[in-house]
Amino acid sequence: MTRIFSSLSAFSFIQLLLLSTLPGIAADPLHIPVHRKRSSASRDLSYYAAAADRIRAKYGFPITSASSTKKRSTSSNSARLGRRASSAGIGIIDQDDDASYFATLSIGTPGQTMSVVLDTGSSDLWVTGSSCRNCDKSTPLFDSSNSSSFKSSSSSSSNSGQTTIQYGSGAVAGTLAQDTVTLGGFTVSDQTFLLADELTNGLLDGPVSGIMGLAFESIASTDSTPFWQALVNAGDLSSPEMSFWLAREGSTASTTSVDGDTEVSGGVFTLGGSNTSLFSGDIEFLDTQGTPSFWLLKMNALTVQSQSISLGSSSQLSAIDTGTTLIGGPSDAVQNFYASIAGSEEVPQEQGFWSFPCSTSLNTTISFGGTAWPISSSDMNLGPVSKGSSDCLGGIFDLSLGSNIPENSGNPSWVVGDVFWKNVYTVFRGTASSSSDTPAVGFAQLSTQAGGSGTAPGNSDSGSGSSSSSSSGSSRMELPSLLSFVLGGIVVSSFVQNLLL
Ligand SMILES: *[C@@H]1O[C@H](CO)[C@@H](O)[C@H](O)[C@H]1NC(C)=O
Ligand SMILES: *[C@@H]1O[C@H](CO)[C@@H](O)[C@H](O)[C@H]1NC(C)=O
Ligand SMILES: *[C@@H]1O[C@H](CO)[C@@H](O)[C@H](O)[C@H]1NC(C)=O
Repeated sequence: MTRIFSSLSAFSFIQLLLLSTLPGIAADPLHIPVHRKRSSASRDLSYYAAAADRIRAKYGFPITSASSTKKRSTSSNSARLGRRASSAGIGIIDQDDDASYFATLSIGTPGQTMSVVLDTGSSDLWVTGSSCRNCDKSTPLFDSSNSSSFKSSSSSSSNSGQTTIQYGSGAVAGTLAQDTVTLGGFTVSDQTFLLADELTNGLLDGPVSGIMGLAFESIASTDSTPFWQALVNAGDLSSPEMSFWLAREGSTASTTSVDGDTEVSGGVFTLGGSNTSLFSGDIEFLDTQGTPSFWLLKMNALTVQSQSISLGSSSQLSAIDTGTTLIGGPSDAVQNFYASIAGSEEVPQEQGFWSFPCSTSLNTTISFGGTAWPISSSDMNLGPVSKGSSDCLGGIFDLSLGSNIPENSGNPSWVVGDVFWKNVYTVFRGTASSSSDTPAVGFAQLSTQAGGSGTAPGNSDSGSGSSSSSSSGSSRMELPSLLSFVLGGIVVSSFVQNLLL
């Protein structure tokens, strides 16, 4: 069984189908295959610029005028601050998608299956409903009239039930509803979600019908308990953890192309624990910062080419976000970062991006208070700035573009996406809503099976590889209430070969 996963990054659809026949042995965790095809959009500078703007919009930063004129109508909403503002943005899935994994859940009685993106950078669940006025023909829709357990909130006295979730490039509008939601073996009855009846064109792609937010209730536009939190509160999970291994697409020789769609890499999402075969040593858990909203850690140190980068004056609050491709940071730190790389310069065509000589191998490390985790040079290098250029785009961009985000807004100043993630095993550990314990995010060295070196980074005394902690014990694995998803889906090849402007 373990062998199946060692070639995950070469995952074919056929393997996914085979895997889907595996569930059924009660004591085993369920492996729910999920997949994604990459769109044909090339990963060029404008692709990354648009991705950067989606991240800015999601976290309440101003977006660049350049890409807004091309891609979207600028809304001053995107710069709103504060609790609701930061909740307004959710991962955007579109043709040049930088959002990530999706999984198939079931809603209603009898259950209707729908695919949703798993997003640790938002907290709402929404799916498209059969009354959707402008959904693409290919988007599967939830037919609430067929569900005997469906409850609409539209008659609720405190709320008209009509809710809009806004983001930089558009919005999803619909009615609040409750129904039974099942993901793998886990069920929440009366899960609140937004039944979308209108959304911005191009928002959804392929078989995806919505998003499942995996962050905290305080930033939920639906003002409701996120699915994962409901499971934790009910004590349904053997361990209140969600773990991700994101396979690196470039780890296989090539991608395949079918009808312009590119076959993508995979990974594994484990709900209810972690998977010891995907990491080695201990998981180093770090408490989240502030009131739970996004999954926030404080960036503690950043190095490049063995130079320590001055992080500047921002809060250094960092959102750990599965719905994000790149790493975005505050202007001063990002400038300092590139100032330490010989030959780097700001990309003239695209505010907020930097280039460096393609021949330079970048040695970047990030620490959130413990181990300094190295980011491979190939993940930091997004490819030539333009076709044939010897300058390559760097994976860290300027998120704030000089804007002044008040320190007390709770808004992150960093958003840490897959560029970092592909280098570590990541565990999100929640707590029951009634608990005063602090949620935590844990990182561990990827096992060799998961494409890692299997050895801990050498430059920090993290204790990795020493005696096992509870996290690497095997007891957790024996519990049936653990669910693994095989992830397809993603995103940005670290070896983008053919960037065309
Ligand atoms: C852990 O991952 C390995 C390799 O992907 C897989 O074979 C195994 O079934 C998983 N175990 C659990 C408990 O999910
Ligand atoms: C809804 O119910 C009708 C009648 O039973 C059935 O024909 C249809 O396929 C159902 N639709 C869904 C989405 O289940
Ligand atoms: C990368 O940088 C870190 C931090 O300065 C250093 O400890 C490590 O040895 C470097 N690795 C390589 C391969 O140069």
